[in-house]
Amino acid sequence: MAETLTITDNRTGKQYQIPIQDGTIRAADLRQIRVTSDEFGMMTYDPAFMNTAACRSKITFIDGDKGILLYRGYPIEQLAEHSDYLETSYLLLFGELPTEAQLDAWIEEINSHTMLHENLKKFVEGFRYDAHPMGMFLSSVGALSTFYPDAKNIADAGSRRLQMVRLVAKVPAIAALAYRHIIGRPYMLPDNELSYTGNFLNMLFKMAEPRYKPHPVLERALDVLFILHADHEQNCSTASMRNIGSSHVDPYSALAGAAAALYGPLHGGANEAVLHMLEEIGSMQNIPGFIKRVKAGEGRLMGFGHRVYKSYDPRAKIIKRMADLVFEVTGKNPLLEMALELERIALEDEYFVSRKLYPNVDFYSGLIYQAMGFPLDMFPVLFAIPRTAGWMAQWEEMLTDPEQKIARPRQIYIGAPHRDYVSRDKRR
Ligand SMILES: CC(C)(COP(=O)(O)OP(=O)(O)OC[C@H]1O[C@@H](n2cnc3c(N)ncnc32)[C@H](O)[C@@H]1OP(=O)(O)O)[C@@H](O)C(=O)NCCC(=O)NCCS
Repeated sequence: MAETLTITDNRTGKQYQIPIQDGTIRAADLRQIRVTSDEFGMMTYDPAFMNTAACRSKITFIDGDKGILLYRGYPIEQLAEHSDYLETSYLLLFGELPTEAQLDAWIEEINSHTMLHENLKKFVEGFRYDAHPMGMFLSSVGALSTFYPDAKNIADAGSRRLQMVRLVAKVPAIAALAYRHIIGRPYMLPDNELSYTGNFLNMLFKMAEPRYKPHPVLERALDVLFILHADHEQNCSTASMRNIGSSHVDPYSALAGAAAALYGPLHGGANEAVLHMLEEIGSMQNIPGFIKRVKAGEGRLMGFGHRVYKSYDPRAKIIKRMADLVFEVTGKNPLLEMALELERIALEDEYFVSRKLYPNVDFYSGLIYQAMGFPLDMFPVLFAIPRTAGWMAQWEEMLTDPEQKIARPRQIYIGAPHRDYVSRDKRR
């Protein structure tokens, strides 16, 4: 027998059988619940979408209570150990791990799109020397829509695929361009002999040497960090990507909006905020006082807590292990000791335990990025690069889902009722 939810409306005494599918009822099924036939019908009220599924998705699965994260069914731990970012991006975008031949072709395809148009360089040159790289990143991605007007053709599967390739291939170059603009170094051309992350490091850090050789441990660490950040189902930026994309705008414009959402300190800006927080705390003896202030509601322990994970974020576990490897090469980040102490206290403290606040992906990633030589304001950009594959996979899924339409939430109007215009001389 089909599962249903029985709702009794005590205003009318009527009963309604609402079908249940996948443990969910369709909000539109509630519209039949009304007192009079001219009413709009029952809606749900769900600020911040705390309990509303807006899509059916095959891309990423999270069990927040158990600390499980799967991309297309594959556990993040296995991907972090055995895969690399380009293979993982293929998996996210096309649903299956590539065969060797498919992977080779994918790498080839990406490599043939790594260069930026010279005019984009000029565009970035227009920014001030102290412009935030994330501001440069998101505007440059948006500007790409003017370089590729063919991207408007979102109904064409071949065109959509080309934009996926272009975006995955070009975001490291845009990030590197923004970084080199700030520090006043010339833009480096991509070296397609290198891996995706190796080439990114090359475009960032190459000086006058004829060939840049990335340190293999740092190259791999960045690759693992990219895998961990590649997708995370319907978070704020991904929901923005889907929302903006649902208007059928080109993917560069939609991705600029998604990157803007990621820029916020409660989302992708959190790893930067963790470092600011650690620097502000300053020394071990200030930690108890800081924790006291957090518990009094005077601030948050950045890098802790998650809307979905109510246990240890599985990505944070992998990152913590990665940090040890990186610090063997770069030397320990002096802030690490404070981070470990904060974590130790928070994992024992009733305030954090009862609210299920555990370290999230951002708690340690910033320490690694800093040890690798990245300035703090590059951190959200380092998140946006790998998330590009996730955003594009979700965009593709949204566009090819026959149930999706232009996104348009409802509201409960609580403003003034109808009233007549008052002329200026009569207003008080
Ligand atoms: C991620 C985050 C936005 C999720 O927020 P949320 O699901 O809306 O959780 P809420 O804001 O409802 O918080 C629930 C409770 O925990 C507290 N809380 C949540 N995160 C906290 C944190 N990092 N430090 C201290 N208290 C926190 C809230 O004050 C609230 O307490 P209350 O019930 O006494 O009011 C939130 O945990 C946060 O701001 N974390 C810090 C920023 C961060 O690391 N973001 C990166 C996410 S990957």
